Amino acid sequence: MKTDVLSLICDPETHDALEIKTENDGRGRPREFLVNPKTGRRYFIRKGIPVFLLESEISGSNRKYQTMYDRMARFYDFSTWLYSRWKGMSVEARLCEYLDELEVAAGSLVLEISVGTGRNLRVLPRGAEFFGLDISWGMLKQCRRNGAKWKLDVSLFMGTAERLPFKDEAFDVVFHFGGINFFNDKAAAVREMIRVAKPGTKFVIGDENEALAKKYEKLPVTGGFYGHRSTAISAPVDLLPPGMQDVRVKDIAGGDLYCLTFRKPS
Ligand SMILES: C[S@@+](CC[C@H](N)C(=O)[O-])C[C@H]1O[C@@H](n2cnc3c(N)ncnc32)[C@H](O)[C@@H]1O
Repeated sequence: MKTDVLSLICDPETHDALEIKTENDGRGRPREFLVNPKTGRRYFIRKGIPVFLLESEISGSNRKYQTMYDRMARFYDFSTWLYSRWKGMSVEARLCEYLDELEVAAGSLVLEISVGTGRNLRVLPRGAEFFGLDISWGMLKQCRRNGAKWKLDVSLFMGTAERLPFKDEAFDVVFHFGGINFFNDKAAAVREMIRVAKPGTKFVIGDENEALAKKYEKLPVTGGFYGHRSTAISAPVDLLPPGMQDVRVKDIAGGDLYCLTFRKPS
């Protein structure tokens, strides 16, 4: 883990600053971990990725999707390429429908919540610094493989969108695409995104809309995920705290996905 990352992260439980320590792993090798000096709570660093997730904390829908994405990590990029072909677009053109909304400048600290395989970050301007968090170890590993292939430097973290291990107002750009419809606690995820962004940040949040969910519920592979909705899917506008500015929702990907944009007041 890079040491300057320490200035951005905190204990997701208490928001206290963390320190990096090294101990012997019992087999004579050094092992790094993060510790909250006030509480003594430790977070291990697995293959260079800080793990802010305890097995006991993963439940409900988050567990279901963590397992699903762990299994499909290696095929995810292919499936999104297929989807783009089906929509008659290149992957890049499709991603730019929402990524072009972000205000990324040279040197911007850019955080993607639910980074997946990192395909969004690949399309953003290279002069920025990239950070990605995800609940799935499989997706994080694929993101790291992709980063090496694409020569893209991304600092990765394992955790949940609902409880971010980042300090208040740490990032210039924060966005999420593709997972929020099924998060355990959407309201907490939206609150956390806003907390870790600097004042004035423009956000993008997007996912499948009700029209696509209706198509998916009829298909054998996806039906199980969409068939039991108690309410129609919609962009989480109602979860934004009062005072957010320039709130807009548009349909993208030929009407399959919603894209919510808004700005945190300066
Ligand atoms: C459809 S993929 C989208 C990945 C990437 N954002 C993209 O657009 O390609 C959804 C991602 O959300 C992640 N995810 C699901 N629930 C999560 C949660 N509660 N917190 C953080 N990530 C989560 C999954 O592991 C998966 O990588």
